[in-house]
Amino acid sequence: MIHYFEQLTSTNDEATHSNYREGDIIWAERQTAGRGQRGHTWLSDEGANLTFSAILEPTFLPPQEQFSLLQVVALALIDTLKEYDIEAKIKWTNDIYVGDKKVVGILMEHKLQGEHIGRTIAGIGININQTEFDPSLPNPTSMRLSTGKQYDRKEVLKRIAHHLMHRYEMLRQGENSTLHSDYLQSLYKRYMEQRFSLPDGTHFQGIITGVEPQGALKITTHEGAEHKFLFKEVEFVLKN
Ligand code: BTN
Repeated sequence: MIHYFEQLTSTNDEATHSNYREGDIIWAERQTAGRGQRGHTWLSDEGANLTFSAILEPTFLPPQEQFSLLQVVALALIDTLKEYDIEAKIKWTNDIYVGDKKVVGILMEHKLQGEHIGRTIAGIGININQTEFDPSLPNPTSMRLSTGKQYDRKEVLKRIAHHLMHRYEMLRQGENSTLHSDYLQSLYKRYMEQRFSLPDGTHFQGIITGVEPQGALKITTHEGAEHKFLFKEVEFVLKN
């Protein structure tokens, strides 16, 4: 069920309430404290985009497999954009890109219940009809900027929800290897030369060779050494 609000602090906060159920979607027109990754805020023009959270209760999944939920969400977005003839890619770990620009941001939050994941809140900000962005944002785009078309936001939301439940059902049925190979097929800059930076500021050049099923990014350097990085251990250096 879609629960619509004019204003919330963050849809991810609202989605923590126990009265919501698996499959529910919390959609807010305006967020007064929309959260991004790494403590950033998420900015979105009112009436132009979608900011929402989808609730899953993957009690069948141990916490060490939480990356598979990110794959589910990212693939549902790729599937949806494909239906609108937009070829998007997954920039490891949580962004959806069209060309070299970001069209969707994903913020995953999990609540543990004993040995398993009790609730997953998939917070999604997708730029749909917005054409001008705050200059502080590094490389934003929208569906409209990609195709020149205007979109019905509620229809986009329903399609995302449909694909999300389809991909989630694949996970529940144990189709992990298909999900992972689909994720790799859609991986941004896979097998391409790319510049990266490390938390200490060092830059290096390498080729993305893949992502491990549990989420580590694999990069091979010129010297032939393969390195594995977890979330926040490496950043892409992109030209704007
Ligand atoms: C990022 O790319 O930094 C992640 C952005 C996630 C934004 C969405 S908007 C809906 C949901 N509620 C939030 O507060 N954040 C997520």
